[in-house]
Amino acid sequence: MTGSTGEAARKRLFIRTWGCQMNVYDSARMADVLAPLGYAPAETAEAADMVILNTCHIREKAADKLFSELGRLRVAKQAREAAGGGLVLAVAGCVAQAEGAEIAARAPWVDIILGPQTYHRLPEMVARASRAAGAVIETDFPVEQKFDHLPEQAASQGVTAFLTVQEGCDKFCSFCVVPYTRGAEYSRPAAAVLAEARRLVAAGAREVTLLGQNVNAWHGASPGGGSWGLGRLLREMAEIPGLLRLRYTTSHPRDMDADLIAAHRDLPSVMPYLHLPVQSGSDRVLAAMNRGHTADDFRRVVDRLREAQPGLALSSDFIVGHPGETEADFAATMALIDQVGFAMAYSFKYSARPGTPAAGAPGQVAEAVKDARLQALQALLRDQQDAFNRSRVGLTFPVLFTGPGRHPGQIMGRSPWLQPVHLLGDRSLIGRVAPARVLAAHANSLSGTLAAGEDDHPGPPRASLRAEEPAPA
Ligand code: 5AD
Ligand code: SF4
Repeated sequence: MTGSTGEAARKRLFIRTWGCQMNVYDSARMADVLAPLGYAPAETAEAADMVILNTCHIREKAADKLFSELGRLRVAKQAREAAGGGLVLAVAGCVAQAEGAEIAARAPWVDIILGPQTYHRLPEMVARASRAAGAVIETDFPVEQKFDHLPEQAASQGVTAFLTVQEGCDKFCSFCVVPYTRGAEYSRPAAAVLAEARRLVAAGAREVTLLGQNVNAWHGASPGGGSWGLGRLLREMAEIPGLLRLRYTTSHPRDMDADLIAAHRDLPSVMPYLHLPVQSGSDRVLAAMNRGHTADDFRRVVDRLREAQPGLALSSDFIVGHPGETEADFAATMALIDQVGFAMAYSFKYSARPGTPAAGAPGQVAEAVKDARLQALQALLRDQQDAFNRSRVGLTFPVLFTGPGRHPGQIMGRSPWLQPVHLLGDRSLIGRVAPARVLAAHANSLSGTLAAGEDDHPGPPRASLRAEEPAPA
């Protein structure tokens, strides 16, 4: 399959990614793995010789979306074959892991089906697919670790980069497929993580987000023997020259240990923003979810975090309508949101995932009830997000500039709290942190002005600036 260099250079790869940041990272690594085979990125599936659909199984409709996409690609593949060419089709990610056999049966035109633990074997699978009659399926959890077999990251991710440090989950929340699709918890060794971080910084990264399904459960082997927790890893990362900002996601309230909380106090490069899913504010539902913590445990963790870092803003995940959830349980969730206050949040209607304990549990909640609860919850969260964004207006804080804005002369960046910030400024600021003063808040972004020079050149009145503001990102 590798062919001559000339032939290889002509191959194009298109990856469509659904789901979480982990999948985004995985897609980039699959591209890295296939680069030595001569695959370069294609702009569209139509222009590609190989298409990978990297799927997400966390909530429903994933399989529906996948099969409709596969239907479209079948037509493209047939057209390509009729013209004497070919199209290699691969389904990756968590739907492939959970429903590999069904995909092979329902879409026999798929060449490769691979789970998240096996993408380092992609080159070999591509070679086998060219010989095999049916699909090549690799959805086991191999003993060898994929991270040991992956090439170093090839492509620069830009100013903000992701780095997977931990995969899988041993927590088995009642509603969640992750322990089944991503397997048992695994932490990459500290040395491998630090080496990858240095490479990312050398390639231009100024902010690194450590990724893991349960990132704060990370306990990687330390260079001197033994193991470290995430707090210690952050301390080591903070020493890397040029690495200005650190984030990590997604965390579990149970794994928020003292050292990690102290890292928020001690390390200026650890950003004052944390995604900490709580799912529900009712102790009854939290127990049914097998979360292993109460609503008060969560409140206490938040108090300790805010004590360590008073500027900390939180985001979270919520599920409404978990089996057994009553109006009183839902009211407890609303009360918790009210008390804690979130800068941002994701919220979902419970959706039964086959094979998870909650799917067969009694007390399934009617769809209309879930709809009503989700609407009420999202209205409250929306108000909190708006209030948080408005609370930044008039403040001056450091912004990491990540790229050009939509309008001429504009650049965009990120606030410490992950809000996009748009302002007029020189592109030479991209990749740097500079103070900005916020003049207006929008639904999902802020706009403002560079703070340097503000004293010399007071800007136009706020009202006129507002009128010229870009659409929120
Ligand atoms: N139904 C609804 N939401 C879910 N999540 C995970 N599984 C389900 C499910 N079966 C949500 C949780 C999790 C986020 C990534 O997705 O809130 O934190
Ligand atoms: Fe899923 Fe997160 Fe619970 Fe693990 S901790 S089972 S990834 S919701």
